[in-house]
Amino acid sequence: MPKVTIDGQTIEVPDGTTILNAARMIGGNIVPPAMCYYTKLATSGGYCRTCIVKVSKGSEKDPRPMPKPVPSCRQTVMDGMVVENITSPEILEARAGVVEFLLINHPLDCPICDQAGECSLQDLGYEHGKMKTRYEFKRREFEKIDIGDKIKLHMTRCILCYRCVKVAEQLTPGRVHGVVNRGDVAEISTYIQQAVDNEMSGNMIDVCPVGALTDKTFRFKQRVWFTKPVEAHRKCEKCSGKVRLWYKGEDVLRVTGRKDQWGELIDWICNECRYDHKKTSDWTIEAPTPVSRLSVISANHYQTAEALENLRLDIDKQRKQLEGNQMKLKEGAMDPNNQ
Ligand code: SF4
Ligand code: SF4
Ligand code: FES
Repeated sequence: MPKVTIDGQTIEVPDGTTILNAARMIGGNIVPPAMCYYTKLATSGGYCRTCIVKVSKGSEKDPRPMPKPVPSCRQTVMDGMVVENITSPEILEARAGVVEFLLINHPLDCPICDQAGECSLQDLGYEHGKMKTRYEFKRREFEKIDIGDKIKLHMTRCILCYRCVKVAEQLTPGRVHGVVNRGDVAEISTYIQQAVDNEMSGNMIDVCPVGALTDKTFRFKQRVWFTKPVEAHRKCEKCSGKVRLWYKGEDVLRVTGRKDQWGELIDWICNECRYDHKKTSDWTIEAPTPVSRLSVISANHYQTAEALENLRLDIDKQRKQLEGNQMKLKEGAMDPNNQ
């Protein structure tokens, strides 16, 4: 099994493992961001260039460095390979350039975008982007398109990662959706707006890393950080039936697939589970979804026992302070020298 060293950490991985997956096995902040690669979608990756790394030693047999940054989602590791990601200033600079490029035509209308709060592009821009754009020209504009009766396409937000096209190719029997044209006029098309009418088409919404493909049954209903995700399942003949329900109060506002720590779906879900079962009684509830402490979705949700104890101590302290002040006021009012 080949050994690879990424940002100073060495790991042995099975043959054929990509640098990205080797980094994911190590974990932590050395894992490159990936906007187009998707484990469950064959031939995904190689489009966005956010996952670039520097290979400073090719292998034990051929230690020459690779001359250019390589996409870590496509490059497999070789024995003795040495890779630099966050330890390479050139890579961080190059990635900031990639982010700037991805945002050239992006509207950044996060305040009205349904993806805000769970958007990979927001995270990418925050972690790897720059404060300002140098782009001075008019941005691309597109009409919003209906992809079937449940999905809305905002082409202005699309970063052409091809994930939805791979879903259409690999999960649905007849592909009616793809990328047409090239360069800055390339766009996702449904070929004369033909509806994507099959049982698994809703997965396109979940794989889209930005707010280009949104669920029409959830659009503008709620900001995601005001909703509570809960893991649930039902018996389904078309898919695993394992989903995430997003609650606001007692209402299920949307149903999505469950995602792992890399933001990828663990199981595909069918449209019936996604759109037609929005009552709690349709589901067996398992548990609240574990939400990363760093996610905005965790705001005001699921306090740890320690946080609750600190909150209780704070309230106790404030109560005692209030009682002390009241006592002082009372004593002051009774003091004859104050009359
Ligand atoms: S896709 Fe992401 S970055 Fe773009 S407007 Fe929506 S939330 Fe903002
Ligand atoms: S619509 Fe979304 S999933 Fe499809 S190519 Fe654009 S960004 Fe990727
Ligand atoms: S994730 Fe590697 S090129 Fe997009």
